Amino acid sequence: MSVLIKGGRVITAADDYVGDVFVEDERISLIGESLDVEAERTIDARGKYLLPGCIDPHTHLDMPFGGTITTDDFTSGHTAAAFGGTTCHVDFCIQPPGQSFAQALETWHAKANGKSIIDVGFHIAVTDLKDGGSLEELARLPDQGVTSYKLFMAYKGALMVDDETLFKTMQVAAETGALVMVHAENGDAIDVLVKAALAEGKTEPKYHALTRPPETEGEATNRAIQLARVADCNLYVVHVSCKESIDPIAVAREKGWKTWGETCTQYFFVDYTYLERPDFEGAKYVYTPPPRPKENQEHLWAAIRSDILSVVSTDHCAFNWDGQKTLGRDDFSKIPNGGPGIENRLQMMHEFGARAGRITLNRMVELLATNPAKLFGLYPRKGTIAVGSDADMVIFDPEKKVTLSAATHHSNVDYNLFEGTEVTGSPEIVLRRGEIIVEGDELRAQPGSGQFVKRARFGEKLVGAGAMVTP
Ligand code: URP
Ligand code: ZN
Ligand code: ZN
Repeated sequence: MSVLIKGGRVITAADDYVGDVFVEDERISLIGESLDVEAERTIDARGKYLLPGCIDPHTHLDMPFGGTITTDDFTSGHTAAAFGGTTCHVDFCIQPPGQSFAQALETWHAKANGKSIIDVGFHIAVTDLKDGGSLEELARLPDQGVTSYKLFMAYKGALMVDDETLFKTMQVAAETGALVMVHAENGDAIDVLVKAALAEGKTEPKYHALTRPPETEGEATNRAIQLARVADCNLYVVHVSCKESIDPIAVAREKGWKTWGETCTQYFFVDYTYLERPDFEGAKYVYTPPPRPKENQEHLWAAIRSDILSVVSTDHCAFNWDGQKTLGRDDFSKIPNGGPGIENRLQMMHEFGARAGRITLNRMVELLATNPAKLFGLYPRKGTIAVGSDADMVIFDPEKKVTLSAATHHSNVDYNLFEGTEVTGSPEIVLRRGEIIVEGDELRAQPGSGQFVKRARFGEKLVGAGAMVTP
């Protein structure tokens, strides 16, 4: 399939110009001011932005958690992602305690196999180095294109690891060139606070936030940074929500330590007061770290402007309000933690970031596509518009007005975090490796057309045939 996209405003992390882009098979093969080439399909993109396909490095599809399973599988999650302009994501493959990493990866490949619409990579979430995976097995995973190790410093009794496991994993990463990712909260302290709150009969959703104060995030963030220095590995702190964890990351980056940070769309818009909404509606906003007092939002905008934080992801971890969140109607600690968002990241960051003048369009592309590609071993195959790169692109109509709503979104989930928000600017056509997967309101790709991507090690480039069909 060849596609000629004419007259779009090509916006990458570095450039902004009007031009033509020619796609042959799966790659971009020509870029020029005015291309005169035959194509099977010509798209008039005048007045539209041509953006690299966005990459979401933090998602949880089809994941067992909190006594239930996230409501989006790889088809519904990918459909939502595609309509939102995301053409590749990296999902967390969770090692069930007692299982090897190979078993966990086999399970996650089976979940995605035949269902994928966008391209997909996996992080391995390490939960057990004693009875399940070994350090030797962990060291071999980058050879399979799994080049990031995730550790949860919270969720005691479930996913949480101790500092020994965290530190040993960091040491392996220093050897193998994998990136260590941490969910940074002090899980032990939070467990004490949760038990005390419940003993006092405090059961409503707002206690989710009140038992996970920002200091517990700041402490764990600093601990991870310092341990990563000792181990000499690269560290990426996921879903930073507050000043208490921005500050240690700012220090680390100032000093040139090998630390990067991510926040998620929801932390710019949803604040603590949402958890106080009556009739259990607050449960919709029970995700971790929790929505914070509103003043943190300005700190987050400043942090993404100054590159203290380098990525905006979604942490899409969708549970229905009715039937899943309600598991915790009488006990906030039983509300499955997680929120949706895979579809609306680009629209929200365009409206309230770029259009509002908080970030430039180039920076928006950098945060949503280029930096995730660079940090997670996908660049330059993905994350930019360049000759030789995968033809993952979004033809974005900057004038299209959309009201975000659960009534119209494509996720299986029964609510939208940004319900009723009006935005100007939305994807019109989305290409994944040269195939038009979304056009207007229509999904054009078949489940199974997305591919597993073997990612490069940290700091290495992904070139050549990096994508492969899921075995
Ligand atoms: O509440 C959240 N974020 N759920 C997903 C798991 C995690 O901590 O990322
Ligand atoms: Zn987390
Ligand atoms: Zn997450």
